[in-house]
Amino acid sequence: MNAPVGTNNLDAFWMPFTANRQFKKAPRMFVAADRMHYTTAEGNKVLDATAGLWCVNAGHNRPKIVEAIRQQAGELDYAPAFQMGHPKAFELASKLVQLTPPGLDHVMFTNSGSESVETALKTALAYHRVKGDGSRFRLIGRERGYHGVNFGGISVGGIVANRKMFGTLLTGVDHLPHTHDLERNAFTRLQPEHGAERADELERIITLHDPSTIAAVIVEPVAGSTGVLLPPKGYLQKLRDICDKHGILLIFDEVITGFGRLGTPFGADYFGVTPDIIVTAKGLTNGVIPMGAVFVKSEIHDAFMHGPEHMIEFFHGYTYSGNPMASAAALGTLETYQEEGLLTRGAELASYWEEALHSLKGLPHVIDIRNIGLIGAIELDPIAGEPTRRAFSAFLDAYNKGLLIRTTGDIIAMSPPLIIEKGEIDFIIETLGSVLKSLD
Ligand SMILES: Cc1ncc(COP(=O)(O)O)c(C=O)c1O
Repeated sequence: MNAPVGTNNLDAFWMPFTANRQFKKAPRMFVAADRMHYTTAEGNKVLDATAGLWCVNAGHNRPKIVEAIRQQAGELDYAPAFQMGHPKAFELASKLVQLTPPGLDHVMFTNSGSESVETALKTALAYHRVKGDGSRFRLIGRERGYHGVNFGGISVGGIVANRKMFGTLLTGVDHLPHTHDLERNAFTRLQPEHGAERADELERIITLHDPSTIAAVIVEPVAGSTGVLLPPKGYLQKLRDICDKHGILLIFDEVITGFGRLGTPFGADYFGVTPDIIVTAKGLTNGVIPMGAVFVKSEIHDAFMHGPEHMIEFFHGYTYSGNPMASAAALGTLETYQEEGLLTRGAELASYWEEALHSLKGLPHVIDIRNIGLIGAIELDPIAGEPTRRAFSAFLDAYNKGLLIRTTGDIIAMSPPLIIEKGEIDFIIETLGSVLKSLD
């Protein structure tokens, strides 16, 4: 029987990526947020060490963003995305391509990271076709890659649970090995020394399938969702070189690394490697209104601009692509980033963050600590036969002590808003220290 209308029953909402039964027994509800903190339904303050889900880069409740949304709602709530335009989407696009690495000067809008991934993969396939190179249909991803939850993304992604749950996925996909190597790289600060040779696997995969069948390679410059896996020194450049050699497009999924997370506007800037397509979302609107953006090189965009002018050049887009409310939120976000220097603030704080994190070395169960920009991860030794339980206990204990962290497997991942102050970093480390000391 359905629950009576108006009752606040927790049962109806099947929550995403959540242990639903556990949550509903002891719900953790946020009712407000400001700058670095949430307020819980019980009135407690919780420091947000995860920027929501890696998205609230400017912190919560930022006036420029709130005001932009308010104004937009009363001015132009919606405009059709196909065959019609509105000024803010164009203003936003022009501002964004000023921020991207040189050459990536066209942008398509989506509503999420997952949609940005699908858009990038479809663009890569279609690009080769419009150039008359339609035999390039294969996509190469990587083990432990996370590219959202849609079919293209889970196919190129390398998450075992997706393979177990959802069957065959897309065909014509192959995977690079992941780069996580605890034996050689544990407790390395910033990029690991060992592992660049894993990029050579791309040559092997390409040879197996023949280069003429491969459309694109997609990787996260730093894999976030599967536990903060950093690219070994030289690894990304090798991927770039191999792709160039064989006419293959390189896609960076920067849903996490985009918009200042590494102390540079994009991960491509940090690593000095420019892909052909950059996938973004999250920090684009500070997470406040759903929006994603896919940046492409002009060669890609221009390859589509042929044929009769009244014809649609690319058969792709969403009802909400460049939605007025989302565009306004993104413009307010960019203004906030620029006024406060947030796209590079991570670089100023990175060494303090690094020292603080690595001070936790030696605490019980800690088998690795990793950091880059304002990202940090602590890998825990799993409880035998009960993977994820130890990190989940840490998550619950931290929450009860006023700290929001994220866990994936037995890895604690952190990515605080870029407005964080040193005192707040100290709070994170003290709280985590006490959580780790009391873990079973
Ligand atoms: C690298 C990467 N790609 C894609 C996504 C999917 O984004 P969304 O949840 O907005 O669909 C995520 C989400 O965490 C991500 O980290």
